Amino acid sequence: MKALVLAGGSGTRLRPLTHTAAKQLIPVANKPVLFYVLEDIAAAGITEVGIIVGATAPEIRAAVGDGGRFGLQVDYIPQSAPLGLAHAVLTARDWLGDDDFVMYLGDNFIAGGITRIVDAFRRERPDAHILLTQVPDPTAFGVAELGADGRVLALEEKPRHPKSDLALVGVYLFTRTVHEAVRAVTPSARGELEITDALQWLIDTGRDVRSTRITGYWKDTGNVADMLEVNRSVLDTFVTRVEGTVDAASELIGQVVVEPGARIIRSRITGPTVIGADSTVTGSLIGPYASIASGCSVLDSEIAHSIVLDGARIDGVRRVEASLIGREAVVTPALAAHRLVIGDHSKVEILA
Ligand code: G1P
Repeated sequence: MKALVLAGGSGTRLRPLTHTAAKQLIPVANKPVLFYVLEDIAAAGITEVGIIVGATAPEIRAAVGDGGRFGLQVDYIPQSAPLGLAHAVLTARDWLGDDDFVMYLGDNFIAGGITRIVDAFRRERPDAHILLTQVPDPTAFGVAELGADGRVLALEEKPRHPKSDLALVGVYLFTRTVHEAVRAVTPSARGELEITDALQWLIDTGRDVRSTRITGYWKDTGNVADMLEVNRSVLDTFVTRVEGTVDAASELIGQVVVEPGARIIRSRITGPTVIGADSTVTGSLIGPYASIASGCSVLDSEIAHSIVLDGARIDGVRRVEASLIGREAVVTPALAAHRLVIGDHSKVEILA
């Protein structure tokens, strides 16, 4: 069995960060979302991985390399444009050959991984197996309609009037039959070849399409609120580990990770929180639920429920919350008026 990981997409809802970085590489709890995906695949006993890449290919390649550090053998499959999940399968046709495979969207996060579902698929080998989960707003997803016996009757991509609250999770298992299906579909209203339509084609032609409802935690990390929520759920699993230095005037409360080379000076860190390698925190209150990446500097500031990326500097800022701060970004107080240099498509909320 192989794994096809999708890391093409442009991440429009995470702009401006995605103007300069692949969304799959934005870290939660100081680890890129894509790495959790690759670890899940390795844990399920799959070693051959094809990563579909687009405009951000160089960055993805630099981060993942040959996959050796995950115990994987990774190949890269360029996709001409993000034309849909079924298009990605078409693009990977030669690489996939006639093998069964799991397709895993590189921005999805599934607590508990995929091992059980992969094992079940290996045993039973239906034509396709999808994962579903209840969501509050199904209009943002592919939505399944199930029969009384739990069989999948119909699927619809981002329906205006959803027939259920069961969303398609971004993990799909297929046998080679799917290649026939992806050749049969035509572009949707949003101009993409939808895997949802390919699955519907399998159902319509009488193939065996099964589903499993997952009750564990699932998120599509397409927007900032979801990233912060995944960040919280991962940090909740952390146990205290101090590899950097904490001075006598500082206090660590709860589960706090201080990575090597990090320095905590006259500060209070409330867990769960992680302070990345070589970052310096001085005179500040950090956490709960803060992920400070590496090489950051936080001085006389308060940050909670936030993700701060590599090399950012936060100096003299009271109460930063629910924020995602980009690499090498600088946040400082203003003396008389707000002075802002804001990237394209940024979103800034200021206390009035
Ligand atoms: C895609 C699928 C959708 C699925 C979602 C899960 O949506 O088309 O059916 O529910 O992933 O993350 P997209 O991310 O392309 O909007």
